Amino acid sequence: MADDLFKKLEGIQACVFDAYGTLFNVASPVEKLASTIGEKASSVAQLWRQKQLEYTWLRSLMGTHVDFWNVTRDALDYTLEVNGVSEAGLADELMTLYLKLDAYEEVLAALQALRAKGKRCAVLSNGSPSMLDSALRHAGLDKMFEQVLSVEEVGIYKPSRRVYRLAMQKMQIADAPSICFVSANAWDAQAAAQFGFQAVRVMRTLGFNDRIPGRPAAVIENLAKLVELV
Ligand code: 2OP
Repeated sequence: MADDLFKKLEGIQACVFDAYGTLFNVASPVEKLASTIGEKASSVAQLWRQKQLEYTWLRSLMGTHVDFWNVTRDALDYTLEVNGVSEAGLADELMTLYLKLDAYEEVLAALQALRAKGKRCAVLSNGSPSMLDSALRHAGLDKMFEQVLSVEEVGIYKPSRRVYRLAMQKMQIADAPSICFVSANAWDAQAAAQFGFQAVRVMRTLGFNDRIPGRPAAVIENLAKLVELV
């Protein structure tokens, strides 16, 4: 990781977090049922996530919004069909586990440290309110955020600027660079940076930028490093 991307951010009032992939490990449902899924487990995990995101982008462009629960189920059904996995009840079980995703191990302590430092913390996610509520409760994170914001309030998915604007409106922060937006999804961090936030990319996966506008102000290995930045 380049040292010049680990630099202190100035003037941050609030840290706004992406949820899926950043706070929560979206591969955890498949990992838990890997023995049932068999040798295709890792390709199922990878394609499920890829199609889930693709469907958010396609539906946003098509103007045919449905919530993230439906998108996630559609992506799963596609993925299981492509991989020839058809065990009875498996899709329902995977969806149930999606409501109880594992949080990454450093998340709670990082949020506690940020709050102790006086930083406001919020979630801004594609997830539907009930999905987010369930996952945050299950992980014991539900008391850590002053707001949990869902794209359902604007009816379009990230990276629409309407979604990032929602955070400013709801947090009542008029100055975009006062928000540190934190995401492990390169495209999300980049789009948030292009919108005007100071974005921090968490390197949970391969560290390449997408070939789209916007560059994160900082790159960190996990959320434990965030408190030093803001
Ligand atoms: C989220 O909005 C993009 O999945 C990501 O939580």
